[in-house]
Amino acid sequence: MSTPIIELNAIGKSFRSADGSARTVLEGVDFTLHEGEIVALLGQSGSGKSTMLRIMAGLISADAGQALYRGMPLYGAARGISMVFQSFALFPWLTVQKNVELGLEAQGVAEDERVRRAEAVIELIGLSGFEGALPRELSGGMRQRVGIARALVMQPEVLLMDEAFSALDVLTGERLREDILDLWESGQIPTKAILVVSHNIEEAVMMADRVLIFASDPGRVRAELPISLARPRAVESNEVRLLIDEVYGLMTAGTGRAGRTTEKEAKLQLGDRLPEADIARIEGILELLVEAPYYGRADLPKLAEETELTDTELLDVSIALALLGFAQLAHGDIALTPLGEHYVGASNPERQAIFGRQLLQHVPLIAYIRHGLEQDRSGDLPEDLFLKLLRFTLDKEEAERALRVAIEWGRYGDLFEYNFNTGVIQLPKEEASGVE
Ligand SMILES: Nc1ncnc2c1ncn2[C@@H]1O[C@H](COP(=O)(O)OP(=O)(O)O)[C@@H](O)[C@H]1O
Ligand SMILES: [Mg+2]
Repeated sequence: MSTPIIELNAIGKSFRSADGSARTVLEGVDFTLHEGEIVALLGQSGSGKSTMLRIMAGLISADAGQALYRGMPLYGAARGISMVFQSFALFPWLTVQKNVELGLEAQGVAEDERVRRAEAVIELIGLSGFEGALPRELSGGMRQRVGIARALVMQPEVLLMDEAFSALDVLTGERLREDILDLWESGQIPTKAILVVSHNIEEAVMMADRVLIFASDPGRVRAELPISLARPRAVESNEVRLLIDEVYGLMTAGTGRAGRTTEKEAKLQLGDRLPEADIARIEGILELLVEAPYYGRADLPKLAEETELTDTELLDVSIALALLGFAQLAHGDIALTPLGEHYVGASNPERQAIFGRQLLQHVPLIAYIRHGLEQDRSGDLPEDLFLKLLRFTLDKEEAERALRVAIEWGRYGDLFEYNFNTGVIQLPKEEASGVE
């Protein structure tokens, strides 16, 4: 085994929210980044990937466990480690050249050396001729090149890339990814290890020697897939396609519970996040699946391509379909259940009735809301009540998101109504009169 550069041992991290409650974001994270490898990290948004990266860069400290850089505990931002972020975070009033020089200036590097090193990196990353340009004069792809140049000019031995290609259009992202791999393979940069956080499975498979899959609540490494294919890899090759399937399979394994794996039949709990999938998308995918060429079964990567959904979006819809009993997920495939097929052929009122019934059975939060409304004399309750409940397990943004999904689904399933002005959830009118 090659030399470890960064080691995380049993790392834990909690954040305290505005209302004083603590939330565990990372727990028991074990990970070692070795010399000579590119590792990709995939996982749902909010699972703690960026937090893990910031701990690895020494930007924040862990509450539990140990983070080592070259065998020494990490204290503060480490010199040999550079990070590239999704948002380019360039200074708008500084030229490309000055933006790239900034980190060197902070380290007290003399001006002539600064200029020379910045020029060399700007050339390496393909921005020659744009030294004097301001960020607003550049395209998104070029701006991200400046972001990468700014990291590379520090001659880091570790490069941490946090969704660095996510904000770019597909082609631009791919070209930049290829350029980084070229620099890596040709040894033109001193970087000895790269960790990329991505929500794009293909990107992970094209780049990495190892793909890690992160679990949520709390975040930890759930699965790992080594990839021994030589680079550059052909995106359309069978090997790459099979690996993409395999990663999809790992990411959807045991997803009764939104994004989690457990040995037993997994079930959603009251305080869990809900997959981000609106009704139009859920029904759109169901309708697509029954038709040719799928006839009830599809390869998730192919489906992502045809629907132009991102992997994360398609995974969320797939998880929702599995949760509701409309589909099953296995080995990177999605297959309709008899109920799912029946649903597509059903009339609108019948669809809504089926949807409502499945929600009550499989989504505890929705069953809880419905039950609360039935118990209440007036048949209406403020949404805040449920937000407070969710805040025990989710942070503010996630709690709001989960409730928003629950309300949309519940309204469609005719389980309750929602007043957008007052934030009150109530029994459907025709039922409310019967309650007392
Ligand atoms: N500084 C912070 N204070 C409070 N909560 C935070 C902070 N940073 C991240 N979080 C929370 O930690 C969780 C994980 O965030 P993050 O690491 O950014 O996830 P990811 O990168 O996987 O999307 C989220 O719920 C986020 O709101
Ligand atoms: Mg992140």
